[in-house]
Amino acid sequence: MAWAVANSNLALVKYWGKADESAKHPASASLSVTLDSISTAADVVFSPELSSDRVEGLPPAAESKVKRFFESFRAKFGVRGYATIFLASNFPIAAGLASSASTFAALSKAAAAAAALTLGDAELAEIARSGSGSACRSIYGGFVEWRPEGGRSVVEPIAAKEHWPLRILVAVTSEKPKTVGSSEGMGRTVATSPYYPAWLRSGADDLAEVRAAIRARDLSRLGTAAERNCLRMHAAAMASVPPLVYWEPATLGAMRRVWELRARGVEAYFSIDAGPQVKVLCEANDAETVKAAMVAVPGVIRVLSSQPGDGPRIVDRPPPWALAGSRSMPRQAVVS
Ligand code: PMV
Repeated sequence: MAWAVANSNLALVKYWGKADESAKHPASASLSVTLDSISTAADVVFSPELSSDRVEGLPPAAESKVKRFFESFRAKFGVRGYATIFLASNFPIAAGLASSASTFAALSKAAAAAAALTLGDAELAEIARSGSGSACRSIYGGFVEWRPEGGRSVVEPIAAKEHWPLRILVAVTSEKPKTVGSSEGMGRTVATSPYYPAWLRSGADDLAEVRAAIRARDLSRLGTAAERNCLRMHAAAMASVPPLVYWEPATLGAMRRVWELRARGVEAYFSIDAGPQVKVLCEANDAETVKAAMVAVPGVIRVLSSQPGDGPRIVDRPPPWALAGSRSMPRQAVVS
């Protein structure tokens, strides 16, 4: 038995579009921060007696992605035997919280350990990417860049979590599963959005700006670039046919609240992935003020707090949140 725990990540410069659909190579570079307290635990056991992979802890609709991941894992490493796979996450929501990143990072680490493979982080990142693109960034802690380079994917940590203990608050505005997942959404944007070429063109500047801002620990520079990058991604998605609007009314309410905070002199900036949740960046000493302001936005259900965290780890014992309830009871981890 091998339990692994991995953290989710928030893209400050987004991955939205593949250059190679099957290999999941991105069309442009992205840069994320790994979040310390939004996590998935995975337990993997390979056994010769099974006649297919068994997945526990996911709704049936999300199981096929995990099964495809295990098929390619077995083929790549010549592993025999099907697996019993157990997943649990500590965030009880199904929409736009990058659950696929923590899920496939945890699965990569747990599957490698269960198969007694000693793999480096670059190899783990490759495996994680085969499950979900953004998962490759969750193989590292701190601030992580993922870029296409000569037909390959390069994933590279650019600053440790200690470099900048920012706060990342997640305002949860809906707990409904989203109707269009990231892969389908970005595929539709690539194929139909007239703004997709502009989105790709503007990415390089955003990346350079975010990288420099992280290096300098300059929140206003980081937040300005990250916010604009997020809005450009959503603008490209909204212009798809049929349109992709991931926001709920409370999403817009939360965005406006962040702008109001800034107008009052509180440094806070938002980012939103392919879902309705609003992630707010701020310095540690403003976290309470920002949290209170976000909790008060009509339609915000709760606010989760996190800061830069670590890459995945193998643990002796599953975390308590992974064991709440019976082992065969489905948890709410959902692969987005
Ligand atoms: O890795 P996927 O297929 O779940 O796509 C992630 C897409 C975004 O979260 C919107 C952006 C990103 O870079 O994480």
